[in-house]
Amino acid sequence: MADHPQQPKKPGLIGRFLAMANDSTAKTVIVTVGLCLVCSVIVSVSAVTLKPRQLYNKELDLQKNILEVAGLTDESRSVAERLRRVEARVVDLASGTFVDLDAGGFDQRRAARDPARSITIAPQDDLASIGRRARRATVYLVRGDDDGVRRLILPVHGYGLWGTLYGFVSLQPDADTVYRLKFYEHKETPGLGGEVDNPRWRSQWRGKKIFSDDGAVGIEVATGVFDHESPEARHKVDGLSGASITGRGVTNLFRYWMGDHGFGPFLARWRAGMRP
Ligand SMILES: Cc1cc2nc3c(=O)[nH]c(=O)nc-3n(C[C@H](O)[C@H](O)[C@H](O)COP(=O)(O)O)c2cc1C
Repeated sequence: MADHPQQPKKPGLIGRFLAMANDSTAKTVIVTVGLCLVCSVIVSVSAVTLKPRQLYNKELDLQKNILEVAGLTDESRSVAERLRRVEARVVDLASGTFVDLDAGGFDQRRAARDPARSITIAPQDDLASIGRRARRATVYLVRGDDDGVRRLILPVHGYGLWGTLYGFVSLQPDADTVYRLKFYEHKETPGLGGEVDNPRWRSQWRGKKIFSDDGAVGIEVATGVFDHESPEARHKVDGLSGASITGRGVTNLFRYWMGDHGFGPFLARWRAGMRP
């Protein structure tokens, strides 16, 4: 039998790809597109699989901030144990009354983006420069051993220099005296407006009075030197050095949220004896 010369095997797809010159345009494009595809798959899978953990950590961080302004900082007890003293309630801001709604299922920031559950703030009333706000807000009541309310925690937010500052202010049961202030989210510059996080600056808020004798919101971040012994000092905290815009933003968010368009009606009812 005559020997047939063996046909050379046709290279496969990978073989043909490997045989291409490394500096050819086609190989460069294939490698680039392939790399992009692989990376985008890795990023997408990570984003999807890590989402629940991200949400959990965000919620945990919020809870820790609430505990901090509540003064429940005993780290030997778990977050869940300390949170048992904190009752979240939904308040209707216009009337200042409690609403029979599950606070756990109410997201104030999401509600603020929903036209059906929020209002546009008229420019002349928009002291905090937030544009719109939810009709309802979540307040937190911190209970003591005797089950009485020891502190009220109110969420506040307003524009600083680079973005919106989100935080909590806790008040004594007189609904006038500040206990603590904490911003849990902001975009201010570290070392300048970011000093709102500085524990020394934050500690000045303790004991400050929100309302002046005439009932107006008097609390403010000072814009210059002030006499700490003067009667007005009970409404003032020192300004942030080199960051007067952030300081003004904090003053303005207090003016808005403690005023008639914010928690004013709720605080007035609380002072008049309303309890959940
Ligand atoms: C890079 C950069 C970042 C700044 N960040 C802030 C800030 O976070 N908050 C703020 O109020 N001012 C910030 N400023 C300063 C403001 O532009 C403005 O000068 C300042 O608020 C005036 O404050 P003063 O009157 O206390 O000097 C920043 C300036 C620069 C150049």
